[in-house]
Amino acid sequence: MKIAVLGTGYVGLSTGVCLSEIGHNVICIDTDEQKIKSLRQGISPIYEPGLENLLIQNAAAGRLLFTTSHREALNGAEIIIIAVGTPQMEDGGANLSYIVQAAKDIAANLVQSSVVVIKSTVPVGTNDFIKSIIEEHCNESVSFNMVSNPEFLRQGSAVMDTMQADRIIIGSENDEAAKKVQEMYRPLNVPFILTSIRSAEMIKYASNAFLATKISFINEVANLCGVVGADVKDVAKGMGKDKRIGEAFLQPGIGYGGSCFPKDVKALLHTANLNGVHFSLLKETVAINDFQQELLVTKAINRLGDLKGKKVAMLGLAFKPETDDMREAPSIKIARSLTKLGAEVVAYDPVAVDNAKNILGDTIRFASTVREAAVNADAVFIVTEWKEFRLLDLKTLMTTMRRPIVFDGRNCLEEDRIRECKKIEYYPIGRPAIVIGMT
Ligand code: UDX
Repeated sequence: MKIAVLGTGYVGLSTGVCLSEIGHNVICIDTDEQKIKSLRQGISPIYEPGLENLLIQNAAAGRLLFTTSHREALNGAEIIIIAVGTPQMEDGGANLSYIVQAAKDIAANLVQSSVVVIKSTVPVGTNDFIKSIIEEHCNESVSFNMVSNPEFLRQGSAVMDTMQADRIIIGSENDEAAKKVQEMYRPLNVPFILTSIRSAEMIKYASNAFLATKISFINEVANLCGVVGADVKDVAKGMGKDKRIGEAFLQPGIGYGGSCFPKDVKALLHTANLNGVHFSLLKETVAINDFQQELLVTKAINRLGDLKGKKVAMLGLAFKPETDDMREAPSIKIARSLTKLGAEVVAYDPVAVDNAKNILGDTIRFASTVREAAVNADAVFIVTEWKEFRLLDLKTLMTTMRRPIVFDGRNCLEEDRIRECKKIEYYPIGRPAIVIGMT
């Protein structure tokens, strides 16, 4: 099947690469010439495990092409997938300008009947809106049908999530179009859920908002555990074994970040407001997350008092491990709060430093090793649960610090390693602190 994918961000590129891997002829379009040039050389613009290898293999096999020309890409395409960004606007709504432009580009270059699939996360009603734009601008002799096909891939496991998805949502008002998209995905052997277009659009937002709420819920439980002397790790395990609750997304921490949850929760709230629905649960989800992102700073003030002149080593900058993505990363808020309070911040991250520099500039310092960040520090903040931090030689690291105090925002350090230290004060989230050798 010949497929055109508009947009080579996380979603577009992962989708394009995976569809070529299952045997389709895929052509990815992006208006960014530099990006297309790199992709043609087999270089992935994003850090995503496994993606670059598949990109190189499928491009070499001639199944995966990259272009800046809509004419070239759309010529003969049986399915056209829109996977451009829908960034957040100031009022919380989704900015649809890229998707509107994509619709106009499709209309101007549509030369045969085709199925137009919207994979971008778009508010309910957008497929209808985009359909009307394409209809208005395209040649009358061509026909097309819309399919809403949201994705659920996570950064850091985008390839696996695409190849082994839990479900594929196909929202359509046209049976032929829905069948065509099913045919495209058939080799993946993943269950299909067929719905109306509007339900498909809603499934995406409701799923992300539910997961974000689950995180805020366990964060509140953790905060309560910390006060009443319970251990959230055991509590989450005990809850998660109930199949109705499930173990996933019950990891407490310093709040959710990334390019999806913060934006999608606010966009769903915006839709609710526009339609006169008072979705107060979601408002609390956001408020709890804002509070949680400040938690390590609050804990540090409680323990160290005035942070002015204190050195804080921030371990981790990316919004989660296995990605260099800094969008809405809790580290940004934490770094800004610390510097505002006069603390000296030195941060280390295995892959996200370049992206972090673009956001935080020279307001903080960046180290190239954990040790460099932690030396003479008054406290370590663990912000992202990189595997490297779990495997740290904590015992030695603590001896290099001015004060061996660790605030673990991800509960990721093993108790055995902590107990090997001669001197340490270890503060996790929602679990009892461990204090050894301090006077
Ligand atoms: C998310 C959705 O999981 C995915 O289905 C959707 O397509 C895009 O948004 P992603 O943003 O890549 O994916 O990351 P995810 O692994 O879901 O984590 C999001 C945030 O929640 C991270 O900041 C992570 O640290 C946090 N999180 C996740 C927790 O704090 N606790 C958890 O238990 C799980």
